[in-house]
Amino acid sequence: MAATTHKVIVALDYANLADAKSLVSKLNPDYCHLKVGKELFTATGPAFIEYLHSKHFKVFLDLKFHDIPTTVKKACEAASQLGVWMINVHASGGSIMLEAALEGINKSNQPPLLIAVTVLTSMNQKILEEIGVTIKLEDQVLHLAKLAEGSGLNGIVCSAKDLEFLKDQLHKSFLYVTPGIRMTGDDTNDQERTMTPIEAIKVGSSHLVIGRPITQSANPSETLEKIYLEIN
Ligand code: C5P
Repeated sequence: MAATTHKVIVALDYANLADAKSLVSKLNPDYCHLKVGKELFTATGPAFIEYLHSKHFKVFLDLKFHDIPTTVKKACEAASQLGVWMINVHASGGSIMLEAALEGINKSNQPPLLIAVTVLTSMNQKILEEIGVTIKLEDQVLHLAKLAEGSGLNGIVCSAKDLEFLKDQLHKSFLYVTPGIRMTGDDTNDQERTMTPIEAIKVGSSHLVIGRPITQSANPSETLEKIYLEIN
């Protein structure tokens, strides 16, 4: 496995093995890590994670666990046994669940980084109200980020646009994994609040999650290399 921790995490948002493998064959593990989410993991399972490890990629297993503490602990333990580099849970599960998640990963010899989702970027103030959260969305993001920090997690997934109000309030080594990255002139697709790779790094992102700008590029390997060189 590559020793370096890269800033770019390519999101493998595919529904089947053939499409995912085809993209992976175009990427260089010296320039990126890979993110496997619910769709691809449900379709391909642990065997595909082993395949990615055999190709020397580090893997962020993006399954966003949120359940009763015992279940989350066991799920995190099972994910850690796969040898992945990073996993995540929902901070809104509360501190007992977050601490259980930490206990789960610490059963492994090489625990992955454990990060938390605060408020999904698909949510807005109206949807928060629907589920009974009446404080401002930004305050809820900060509240959950602090809960994750206080529970001993390594960082959060958030929009790079949120870093301005978040960064000074959390400890210096906290990780910020930021999706919604687009190069100038790219299609923004369904992302509302985007930043370029260099802008996101400048405001403090530790890792950039990039999907379609690379996966749907005419030349994924060239696009990845260009981003890598721009931010390193
Ligand atoms: O294609 P694109 O670059 O928009 O992909 C972004 C990736 O980051 C997708 O896998 C998406 O599910 C994920 N993500 C996101 N916003 C969040 C959390 C995860 O876009 N808040």
